[in-house]
Amino acid sequence: MAEGNPLWPQAAMPALPHDSAHLHVAGLARYVDDEPELPGTLHLAFGLSSEARARITGIDLERVLAFPGVVAVYTAADIPGENNVGPIAHDDRVLADGEVVSHGQPVFLVAAETRLAARKAARLGKVTYEALEPAITSAQARAAGSRIEADQRMARGDADGALAAAEHRLAGSLRIGAQDHFYLEGQVAHARPGEDGQIHVVSSSQHPSEVQHLVAHLLGKPSADVTVEVRRMGGAFGGKESQAALFAAAAALVVHHTGRPAKFRCDRDDDMIVTGKRHDFEVDYDVGHDAEGRLCAVKLRFAGRCGATMDLSPGINDRTMFHADNCYFLPDVEIVSERLKTNTVSATAFRGFGGPQGMLAIERVCDHVAAQLGLDPLDVRIRNLYGPGRDVTPYDMTIEDNIAPELIARLRETARYDARREAIAAFNAGSPVLKKGIALTLVKFGISFTTTHLNQAGALVHVYSDGSIQANHGGTEMGQGLHIKIAQIVADVFGVGVDAVRITATRTDKVPNTSATAASSGADLNGMAAWRAAMTIRARMADFLAHVFGCGADDVRFTPEGVVAGAARMSFAEAARKAWLGRISLSSTGFYATPEIEYDRASHRGRPFYYFAYGAAVSEVVVDTLTGEHRVLAVDILHDVGRSLNPAIDRGQIEGGFLQGQGWLTTEVVEWDAKGRLLNHSPATYKVPTASDRPKRMRIDLWDGENVKPTIHRSKAVGEPPLMLANSVFSAISAAIAATAPDVRDMPRLDAPATPEAVLRAIAGMRA
Ligand code: MTE
Ligand code: MOS
Repeated sequence: MAEGNPLWPQAAMPALPHDSAHLHVAGLARYVDDEPELPGTLHLAFGLSSEARARITGIDLERVLAFPGVVAVYTAADIPGENNVGPIAHDDRVLADGEVVSHGQPVFLVAAETRLAARKAARLGKVTYEALEPAITSAQARAAGSRIEADQRMARGDADGALAAAEHRLAGSLRIGAQDHFYLEGQVAHARPGEDGQIHVVSSSQHPSEVQHLVAHLLGKPSADVTVEVRRMGGAFGGKESQAALFAAAAALVVHHTGRPAKFRCDRDDDMIVTGKRHDFEVDYDVGHDAEGRLCAVKLRFAGRCGATMDLSPGINDRTMFHADNCYFLPDVEIVSERLKTNTVSATAFRGFGGPQGMLAIERVCDHVAAQLGLDPLDVRIRNLYGPGRDVTPYDMTIEDNIAPELIARLRETARYDARREAIAAFNAGSPVLKKGIALTLVKFGISFTTTHLNQAGALVHVYSDGSIQANHGGTEMGQGLHIKIAQIVADVFGVGVDAVRITATRTDKVPNTSATAASSGADLNGMAAWRAAMTIRARMADFLAHVFGCGADDVRFTPEGVVAGAARMSFAEAARKAWLGRISLSSTGFYATPEIEYDRASHRGRPFYYFAYGAAVSEVVVDTLTGEHRVLAVDILHDVGRSLNPAIDRGQIEGGFLQGQGWLTTEVVEWDAKGRLLNHSPATYKVPTASDRPKRMRIDLWDGENVKPTIHRSKAVGEPPLMLANSVFSAISAAIAATAPDVRDMPRLDAPATPEAVLRAIAGMRA
């Protein structure tokens, strides 16, 4: 099964629509909440902590139980097994046990005949606390020595020595705000009892296997007695990688105690309060550079607010460090990462998984160096790119697929960057109130889970005797188009149309021990596993047909015109029927584990990524310097997806990712008050970008190269990297602000998100 098989791929992959698009638009796509409810289904709600940090001194649930429709109320004492939904550290309680560590933490669980009854009753619980001093801000956590793990350091050479010797030096800092996932479908799970203690959970989760294992531990059952099923999610963005388990666990607990089906569809405000978000960061930098803007010494310090528990914070903060170089060679470098433990909801995975914060930091450094020297920031970027003899990352990985220089050159030309930059300078000179800015920023995103063992996947493919095909794999569909890509890969193997392939819901009883659909590697991993499963079946069919028609197995070909075996020709359905009659197994599993990767976390050295995905974007903005508002006028993107598995899906990912990044950097504010209460927990107070915020002109081109690594069809992952293309919006806004004080050779101090308030502060700072 050589992966250099000349038949692979048989054809360029077409730009097909999402396999559920016709269902999405007609309201016929089934989400967890659309599953028919069995008679007797109970509905659930949590009673939430009113304190950020406290000892629980008493819980009085009498009024909750007395509320009409309430069937049962549970506390931590009712959990038969392990009270944990944490993915790594076992420190995430389903229900608080003795203490609460963040405001809004679930303390008790109400099961009622209706959702409304459960929610109303949940407010009647009387929990008494002995309040303790919380650490809400990063500064408070630092002062209290509160961290989820030790500081991490990634370094090469002698950053301090190089700094001292540098021709020019500058230092600065930057705050980067958090972000709520704002998936359209909120957190939801539906659990049903099976026979003999078995349980079936339908969950809106990126990680069915983890939900399965956590539910099993929670109930003290073997994993074999728990099946988790995910048909699709209405968006996840990392917010259902670990966070979905809480709701599944609660539903499973109720099934366990009552023997009745139970559904937990979380209210939107509660969802935003109870579940984790992107980490916010404080970044400090101290850099040395030469007169051309070439960096010689870089010291970066990242302080990530991790919230109350570990969740996935170690990996996320590691990924920040891994992406603090972006496309740039940092000769003498020290990257230090503080992981602060605060009494706020635990921060979690979010598209980019820490990478965006690292990249934004170094892009700011480039902007700052350019401002100090009076250079075009693009020239500073180009001078610092990885290249021959300067191709080793701070974590000691040699970069073998660097296309950034060509990517920039091409985009610079197609976007007419230089002409527009000149035109903008002329515009700004004659425009006292409106100021424009333009910026080109880069993306280099490492593909693979940095936890090496997670880079594995399985698939199960069935060919039925009528020639129709079912494929199942460990990945989950969250709108990103993973299923259509897998269907295309499998269809291509058999030379059939994609309509012949039905992808079935992800289930732990079909493909076991799967990894989360995350790190953008869903198609890389599961696509290869499904391809291998299909190839196994194809090889069996070819051997059989060769025997029947007296030709070599190599003379059996699966083409769009049908199956050719020597002189014989038949439809794929005929071939399948013949093979079935010939008693050939038409079902196979497939397995894939990413090769070549290894990483030593203790020294932060190795090859954590199989390859990198690249991209570049030019954004042009206009800022109203009186109100601080801005508009993104035009965006030009050139993005690398290798050989696209589906250009339509990939473009959708690029556009959506960009817009989500734009929201993160411009409008989405997550703030907790001094008592640790989240202030933005509904669409009324949390502003995601809408269709009208989409840039008026948006051009997206796909880079026409292929992956140098033999990934499935030589494609590249696309899910997360485009989010970071929006760094160009932030840099462009900063450039527009700088235009308010053209004689100042400095960069505005601008924090993310660049809300009107932040922009006005930055303008005031620039003029002062
Ligand atoms: N696209 C849509 N429409 N919805 C999502 O929830 N999640 C993103 C990205 N694109 C997401 C999305 C995130 S965080 C990841 S890691 C990848 O999709 C996961 O899917 P993939 O590995 O199949 O790309
Ligand atoms: Mo994505 S943040 O890896 O789920």
